[in-house]
Order: sequence, then structure tokens, then C-alpha cells
Amino acid sequence: MHAIARRRHHRAAPLLLVLMLLALITGVAAVAAPSATATTEASADDIAEGERLFAANCASCHGLDAQGTEGVAPSLVGVGAAAVDFQVGTGRMPMQASGPQALAKPPQFDQEEINQLAAWVASLGAGPAIPTPEQVDPELGDAANGMLVFRTNCAMCHGSIGGGGALTQGKFAPSLLETTPEHIYEAMLTGPQSMPVFNDANITPEHKRDVIAYLDFQSNGSPGGLSLGAIGPVSEGLWAWLVLLGLIIASTIWVGARSS
Ligand code: HEC
Ligand code: HEC
Repeated sequence: MHAIARRRHHRAAPLLLVLMLLALITGVAAVAAPSATATTEASADDIAEGERLFAANCASCHGLDAQGTEGVAPSLVGVGAAAVDFQVGTGRMPMQASGPQALAKPPQFDQEEINQLAAWVASLGAGPAIPTPEQVDPELGDAANGMLVFRTNCAMCHGSIGGGGALTQGKFAPSLLETTPEHIYEAMLTGPQSMPVFNDANITPEHKRDVIAYLDFQSNGSPGGLSLGAIGPVSEGLWAWLVLLGLIIASTIWVGARSS
């Protein structure tokens, strides 16, 4: 006891205490952290529940077996869980008003129901699956490479930073700055409406994640400070012209002015 009491006043004692406390905290945090293993396996119950939801909400257009209805809605056999998660998760389906394009709106189903619908549609024929959290984690992507991929493949429709743009015949490519990583991935994989499909041979899964990292970077505020309406190089160029040209003119006037 004496020995411990004497060492209490040792110079290293506070440091030792802090280290012990840190070890304790990280130990507790590691045990308490939720494990990130999400179960994506669909159970028979989910599939049955999905079939019921589909019959009530989707079959009027897509048909009871999702085989499609001529002139009304396409067949969903083989579109995969990813297409359902995208279409229902962004509120595009169930479609309401007919127009040039099915519009995104607040989703009508919660994620559990979406997963059940997706499980049933996926059970009809093989198609792209819902991506794993790791596949869409912006932290793991390379935003600089994502910018190159985006400029080559997406910018002509969605704008250079994903702000959106108009297309022909009343259609438009929406802004991507509010879209979740899962939905960005699924949009590339399934190509909704007038958007082309970017399968894994066109853009590899790693490059898809890079695109997500790039868009995540853009939506977390403007990297250059003032966003100038986020309409890309035009506004920035105009800014440079007006301000720099103004400065040059002002300085020539100043240089040319007589001092008397
Ligand atoms: C009012 C009719 C209507 C209803 C109701 C409807 N859909 Fe659709 N759905 C359509 C049309 C039309 C398209 C094709 C849109 C396009 O590509 O222009 C479509 C496309 C889809 C696609 C994309 C297919 C592909 O090739 O990628 C999916 C997935 C889908 N619907 C799922 C659903 C689900 C699930 C429901 C029910 C929650 C539903 N739809 C309800 C009309 C409807
Ligand atoms: C030919 C033009 C075109 C190209 C190229 C294109 N898209 Fe699209 N994209 C569209 C259109 C049109 C829609 C809207 C479709 C709809 O409403 O169903 C869309 C929708 C999306 C959405 C859904 C947005 C939301 O929040 O609802 C995402 C995400 C997306 N595109 C990502 C991309 C990415 C990433 C690329 C490049 C790899 C790309 N797109 C290339 C036309 C295009």
C-alpha cells in the first residue's frame, strides 16, 4: 500500500491516468458500436409481403405478374431489386400523373416495404441487386477521379457539377446534389427512363463509387467558397472578367491620371 501511495505523486502519474482512461473509453466504444452487417438476404415472408404490396399498388399498371401492360407500363421481370429500390425510393413509383417523365416525389413506402417489393420483383428474374453500404460509401471513393468519370459520362445531361439540366421534349435531367449514394449507384446501374444504363463494364463499381464521392463533395458546399449560383465555369468566368477587367481599367485610369 505504501509503495502505491508514494508513487501517486510521481510526475508520470497524470499521464498514466489519462492513458488508462483513454484505453477504457475506446474499449467501451468498440464493444458498444453497432455491427455494420446488414442482412440483405430476402426471406420467404418478405417476398410474400412484397407480392401483396405489389398487387395492391403496382399491378394496375404493371400487371399482377409484373409482366407489363401493353402501352401502359413495362415488364419488371429481370429489372432487379436495384430498379425497384430506386424507383420507389425516390417516389417515382407508383407513378401518378402521366407526363413526359415519371417525377420524383416524397416516397410512399418505408424502406422495409421497399425492400419487400424489391425482393418480390427480384424473385421473378435475375437483375442488378441493391448495392452494399461499402459499394456506395463516399469516404472510400476518389472524388478527383470521380470528376473525370462524371465529366465524360454524365455532365452533358446533368451539368458539370450535377446541378441538373433540360433535355428535349419536356424531359430534364434532375439535380443530383440531394440524391442519396444508394440512389446514385442504382440510377447508373438501371438507367431510369431517358438515362442510359452504365453497367459494370462501362463504369466499374470502383468508378461508380468515385462518382458518388465527387457528387458528395459537390453537395457539401462549394469547394471554392462562393458558389456563384453553381452554374459552372460560365459564372466563374464572368466573375473573373468583370472583376479583373475592372481592376485593370481602374489601374490604367489611376496610372494615366495627372498628379497636379
Ligand atoms: C400509373 C401506372 C403505374 C403504377 C401504378 C406503377 N408504375 Fe412502375 N412504371 C410505370 C411506367 C409507365 C414505367 C416506365 C417509365 C419509363 O421508363 O418511362 C414504370 C417503370 C417502373 C420501373 C422501372 C423499370 C425499368 O426498366 O427500370 C420499376 C422498377 C417500376 N415501375 C416499379 C413499380 C412499382 C414497384 C410500383 C408499385 C409501388 C409501380 N411501378 C407502380 C407505370 C406505373
Ligand atoms: C442522356 C442524358 C443522361 C446522361 C448521360 C446521364 N443521365 Fe442521369 N438522368 C437522366 C434523366 C433524364 C434522369 C431522370 C430520369 C427519371 O426521372 O426517371 C436522370 C436521373 C438520374 C438520377 C436520379 C436523380 C434523383 O435524385 O432522382 C441520378 C442519380 C443520375 N441520373 C445519375 C447519373 C450519373 C451518375 C450519370 C453518369 C454516369 C448520368 N446520370 C448520366 C439523364 C441522363
